[in-house]
Amino acid sequence: MITTSGLTKVYQSRGREVTALDGVDLHVREGEVYGVIGQSGAGKSSLIRCINLLERPTSGTVTVAGQDLTALAGRGPRAGKELREARSRIGMVFQHFNLLDSRSVQHNIELPLEILGVSGRDRSRKALELLDLVGLADKAKAYPGQLSGGQKQRVGIARALAGDPKVLLSDEATSALDPETTRSILQLLRDLNQQLGLTVLLITHEMDVVKTICDSAALMQKGRIVESGTVGELLATPGSELAHELFPVGGTASGPDRTVVDVTFHGEAATQPVISQLSRTYNIDISILGAAMDTVGGNQIGRMRIELPGRFEENVVPIGFLREQGLQAEVVEHDAASIPVQTPAPLTKEVAK
Ligand SMILES: Nc1ncnc2c1ncn2[C@@H]1O[C@H](COP(=O)(O)OP(=O)(O)O)[C@@H](O)[C@H]1O
Ligand SMILES: [Mg+2]
Repeated sequence: MITTSGLTKVYQSRGREVTALDGVDLHVREGEVYGVIGQSGAGKSSLIRCINLLERPTSGTVTVAGQDLTALAGRGPRAGKELREARSRIGMVFQHFNLLDSRSVQHNIELPLEILGVSGRDRSRKALELLDLVGLADKAKAYPGQLSGGQKQRVGIARALAGDPKVLLSDEATSALDPETTRSILQLLRDLNQQLGLTVLLITHEMDVVKTICDSAALMQKGRIVESGTVGELLATPGSELAHELFPVGGTASGPDRTVVDVTFHGEAATQPVISQLSRTYNIDISILGAAMDTVGGNQIGRMRIELPGRFEENVVPIGFLREQGLQAEVVEHDAASIPVQTPAPLTKEVAK
């Protein structure tokens, strides 16, 4: 649904060049909630602004719903109308809501439809329908100044949906909100994703946001995407920074002759019996270095870091046993000098829908 290829953005700032995006290749599939996480200055806002062409990329391409927006933008003023229409099918939600204080809630939502030349009656019908969808049916006549932060963001979301977009872009939509309101807005985004089949690309600096609603995620550093994948793929990638942040299971090897394995399981898979079976079958002592259980994108996922006695070579069979039980088992530390790094095992179950 969204593809960027070699996307680069260089700003000219007081005679100096600032590279905000440095060759970003992003793939967001139809119907998924995709989170881009990174620290301040990583280039997240630049990415989202280049995707909807609020900002012209320095090089690279942006394709949304099969349409190459960079090519449209490059065709000069006559492509203006086409580009405007293409952009109206990309909803955008902002951190500080960007509502017009002098306009009622209803008229804020109607604004993008006015620009598209939709008639007054149709605008009004659509705005009321959207207000109902975001749970603010009774606030049509209110003004932004009379609303709470969470309500303002609901209006912002309704306005973003006015052009019936297939894609919703959200730049830190919950960063100005308290934790409880954040949860309710994330739930709304998830509901809209499911009810309307809306593809959502959201930018955040909070790992909790990714944990709560994302099917896939990417980590951005210094204008580059350094890790990306479905949450399941990330959890199955040894040494993944995102996986570690999502599930800080912690723990390092207690000695050189030890093998540390991260075991990931989905749903109700009971690890406890499997670990004790493993211990009995191979007559080995197993230490649990850390464990975490959580809900990611509506799915229960657990992670456990265990330590087996002996080097990797001696544990090939026990690790195979864990995989046979349908668990993902990835070696995180072993005598790296002698053994090639393991490639991630394929997912045993789809984590994301
Ligand atoms: N309009 C601009 N002019 C010059 N530099 C900018 C501009 N916008 C962003 N930058 C710079 O680009 C880098 C990435 O910024 P930004 O995309 O806002 O990151 P993030 O949203 O992850 O905090 C930063 O170094 C920032 O200072
Ligand atoms: Mg930003």
